[in-house]
Amino acid sequence: MLKPLAPHFRSLVGIDVSGEMIRKSKQWLEGLANIKTLETSGVDLRPFPSDSFNLVYSYVAFQHMPRQVFERYLEETNRVLQPDGYLAFQIPIGLHRNAPLGDTIGIRNYSIEEISEKLDRLGFQLVEERNSKTTASKERVLTEQSPLVLAQKITTAMPQHVTDWVNTDCEKEFSLLDTRMWLWFAEQCLHEGRQDEALRTYKSLLQQDPRSLENWSRIVENLIE
Ligand SMILES: C[S@@+](CC[C@H](N)C(=O)[O-])C[C@H]1O[C@@H](n2cnc3c(N)ncnc32)[C@H](O)[C@@H]1O
Repeated sequence: MLKPLAPHFRSLVGIDVSGEMIRKSKQWLEGLANIKTLETSGVDLRPFPSDSFNLVYSYVAFQHMPRQVFERYLEETNRVLQPDGYLAFQIPIGLHRNAPLGDTIGIRNYSIEEISEKLDRLGFQLVEERNSKTTASKERVLTEQSPLVLAQKITTAMPQHVTDWVNTDCEKEFSLLDTRMWLWFAEQCLHEGRQDEALRTYKSLLQQDPRSLENWSRIVENLIE
């Protein structure tokens, strides 16, 4: 997707949680000087400074993520977008459908209300809604047929980052990928001085997934530090 977009943008950055996808992308995109690709944490846009992009685009990716991760990406998107920047994304709209937290392939569906609430709370406005004079426009814009939702950053959302992992819709089984993601998240909290949230995340992780000795040693190391 970066290839056809390349002639229209001065500079493009593609991200993926999969190192393999990023390795392949570097082969596929060789010679295209205005495109960079980067392996990221899978839970945020940490490598990128605030107010640094005009557009964030996501296609058939958010639908595979746990709801909390999708929301975190919306929050991060608000942070990295310049004022008035755009967010264009695909998400299945229709009946509410979830998948277990450890499932990173299954599809999540979102209701119109849920998407509208998230966009409102996280500082976005639907572009068509803004341009429309009718009151029922949310329903018109967010339909099952709509291939992409286009929203504009209208305010800077306050960072929230608070997730109660014990009381989320976690299944008993965490995948190793999820465990790795939340370990990384807790480390980021420590790094940013949010010790309470790091401790809460570690506690939840240990309750949910006490299997891996490697995780225990990393956690103890971080706590001592
Ligand atoms: C179905 S592919 C779509 C890729 C691309 N948008 C396209 O159309 O070719 C979904 C991609 O999302 C990536 N992905 C899944 N969860 C992610 C996450 N939490 N953060 C970043 N990328 C993720 C997967 O590794 C996969 O490459």
